[in-house]
Amino acid sequence: MVSHVEGLIEKADEYYEKRNEWNCKDLDGRILATLFFEASTRTRFSFESAMYRLGGHVVSLEQGLSSSAKKGESLSDMGRIMSHYADIVVIRHPDSGSVDAFSKYATIPIINAGDGANQHPTQSLVDLYAIYKEKGTLSNLKIGFLGDLKYGRTVRSLVTLLKQYSSTFSFISHESLVISDALRQELQESGSSFVETRDLKGTLPDLDILYVTRVQEERFESKAVYETVKNEYILKGEDVHEMPHLTILHPLPKINEIDESVDFLPHAKYFKQAEYGLYVRMALLNAMLQ
Ligand code: CP
Repeated sequence: MVSHVEGLIEKADEYYEKRNEWNCKDLDGRILATLFFEASTRTRFSFESAMYRLGGHVVSLEQGLSSSAKKGESLSDMGRIMSHYADIVVIRHPDSGSVDAFSKYATIPIINAGDGANQHPTQSLVDLYAIYKEKGTLSNLKIGFLGDLKYGRTVRSLVTLLKQYSSTFSFISHESLVISDALRQELQESGSSFVETRDLKGTLPDLDILYVTRVQEERFESKAVYETVKNEYILKGEDVHEMPHLTILHPLPKINEIDESVDFLPHAKYFKQAEYGLYVRMALLNAMLQ
């Protein structure tokens, strides 16, 4: 898997280097369908822009319930049907496992753009590319994950990739938002080095990268519980001034977990990270349709 991932990063970098030459025809005439049953800005628009940038076309479902899903059509039937109308599908859905259900009878490549609290694998590729661009390496980095480690699907997907590069992990969260037992077991079985802590300020000086996530309000069963944890960690400029080597990433959207004073510091790379998403998704579409 590592060499496959590195091939994508290499191709993304090729597209990044040619970012001012918009005459690419790598996917001339091919059709991407984007089916989003849950809100998105970055994932949907970067995939759609990527397809146009590669010379292809896009058909799009902006709101899942404007499809026949509203009439009760199953995801597996929808996957079978869409296989005739597009060459590749990108789908986001609020339920864990929904992308597997959609793929059951599909005969074209299906890309998971986020299924509930389960996985968001293309975001992890974007994150990996951002780390490579900002740190010049993927190996032996000390990475802190801050925020909602229970519901944040990007953390799970990224850790699975990064553990292959001898990373050391610090998981910083409220005690009700710690990593899942499954991820803890995965890390133990792979012999990865990790700690779980509530101490942000004590952990920051040891890190190369701080990966911040928002508390995922939409995944809480109770609004009252969300209210008790939503302000637990708010990263401020003063917290990182003394750490010029620290790179701050965030998959975005961010709500209040990073103070605006951080946005203009050289540490803050999350807007650049979102830009990198375009080139990574170009590389991914190209790889899956060549
Ligand atoms: N990072 C991310 O998935 O952003 P969107 O929800 O805007 O797609």
